[in-house]
Amino acid sequence: AYRADDDYDYLFKVVLIGDSGVGKSNLLSRFTRNEFSLESKSTIGVEFATRSIHVDDKVVKAQIWDTAGQERFIVFLGLPGCPANDMDRMVFFYIDAWFSGKSNRERKQTDKRKYRAITSAYYRGAVGALLVYDVTRHVTFENVERWLKELRDHTDSNIVIMLVGNKADLRHLRAVSTEDATAFAERENTFFMETSALESLNVENAFTEVLTQIY
Ligand code: GTP
Ligand code: MG
Repeated sequence: AYRADDDYDYLFKVVLIGDSGVGKSNLLSRFTRNEFSLESKSTIGVEFATRSIHVDDKVVKAQIWDTAGQERFIVFLGLPGCPANDMDRMVFFYIDAWFSGKSNRERKQTDKRKYRAITSAYYRGAVGALLVYDVTRHVTFENVERWLKELRDHTDSNIVIMLVGNKADLRHLRAVSTEDATAFAERENTFFMETSALESLNVENAFTEVLTQIY
């Protein structure tokens, strides 16, 4: 039967989180556009991309959110105009518009509040998450615990979480063993996969598994 391009049965919001530089934006571009960039810049503000996949006989559309993995992401420069049909994006727009008229001193005092407001808007309604670390930088794996706490503080308890060890192509630089990460994922009750956005390894699998589990 004919289906329009944008026809879908389910719309799931999935968020990408993890330290800066672990490869979140490249995982997203690999999954949604089959693109990879060696010189990608740190994400400013929040970016969105969608892709639909088939699960059983249903069309599942993923709306994937990506932001910078550093607290600096309170500097939000993202949207050119206010998208009136999307509540979550409107939140970002208004927060930003409101803060843009403030002095530096006022900004500093309210940075914390702004960070919290943006954090809750980012996580609101998310039913899946890819929590990404870099297999070549151990500190990004150590920080997974903090990301997990933030995620659990802001989302529903039955959110589907996939721990993702990215940059698996850099075999000679590996600093986090598959065993350690598997054990962590088992303890924390999350799914786990190692990926390479560069080599297209497991990227499709990681997103598809999350969407299938949500469904
Ligand atoms: P923030 O936006 O700052 O939070 O970073 P990010 O997590 O979005 O990282 P990004 O996707 O921008 O990637 C950071 C760097 O790692 C870039 O130079 C990428 O080219 C590189 N990179 C990303 N994924 C891979 C991968 O699978 N393998 C290799 N070798 N490099 C990767
Ligand atoms: Mg990014």
